[in-house]
Amino acid sequence: MSYKGHFRVWRGDSEGGSLEDFEVEVYEGEVVLDIIHRLQATQTPDLAVRWNCKAGKCGSCSAEVNGQPRLLCMTRMSLFSEDEVVTVTPMRAFSVIKDLVPDVEYNYQKAREITAFTPPADLAPGEYRMQQADVERSQEFRKCIECFLCQDTCHVIRDHEENKAAFAGPRFLMRAAELEMHPLDAGDRTDAVQDEHGLGMCNITKCCTDVCPENIKITDNALIPMKERVAGRRYDPIVWLGNKLFKRDR
Ligand code: SF4
Ligand code: F3S
Ligand code: FES
Repeated sequence: MSYKGHFRVWRGDSEGGSLEDFEVEVYEGEVVLDIIHRLQATQTPDLAVRWNCKAGKCGSCSAEVNGQPRLLCMTRMSLFSEDEVVTVTPMRAFSVIKDLVPDVEYNYQKAREITAFTPPADLAPGEYRMQQADVERSQEFRKCIECFLCQDTCHVIRDHEENKAAFAGPRFLMRAAELEMHPLDAGDRTDAVQDEHGLGMCNITKCCTDVCPENIKITDNALIPMKERVAGRRYDPIVWLGNKLFKRDR
């Protein structure tokens, strides 16, 4: 069983582009990435799309379907009625290299700015021990496939290129939180996460959590606890006094 589906696909590059209409055969059980591949095979051999696993695990095929940030390989065609026009556009928060392929360099820059895991100086590799509860807490964040859909949807940068310098985005604020919760990490990112990575710009709208294909509770389990940690350090009078006595400079 198949039908002729109506698709509108963005074509262009960093200089500009437009939506183009196509009719493509749709077969039962297919996902949007199958349609994009059929379009490449039958009508537009130069259509650019990034993908690797077709299993929701590599995080490459992120795009927007009818304006919703989604993985193309995990978006079933059965979500749409047969007469509906399905619009496929590149992620809006990033510039475009070509067609559906975005330039996600911003995310790699932000990743490099987060202080890496800092092991305790008095333990050698092999001597690290953690409670199972601590393993489980960070395990949720380690499910991240770096699809950057959360980055794409967050209103702080989605239409505000000017905020990118000051805001790391939910994926990397979550990374900082994961390391801060790590019992063996000797680094301290609490001030940096507020002053350099823009945690204060997040007003917990939870849009990032809503689009995460790994169902990570980014806002509740990473961003809000991190905000509490910052507030505890800066506004708890006992902690404030301790910081003064020990000459913490921020
Ligand atoms: Fe993608 Fe979720 Fe990781 Fe964000 S946190 S990059 S939405 S997997
Ligand atoms: Fe953005 Fe998520 Fe905060 S969408 S505003 S980072 S809760
Ligand atoms: Fe790997 Fe879609 S192709 S997540």
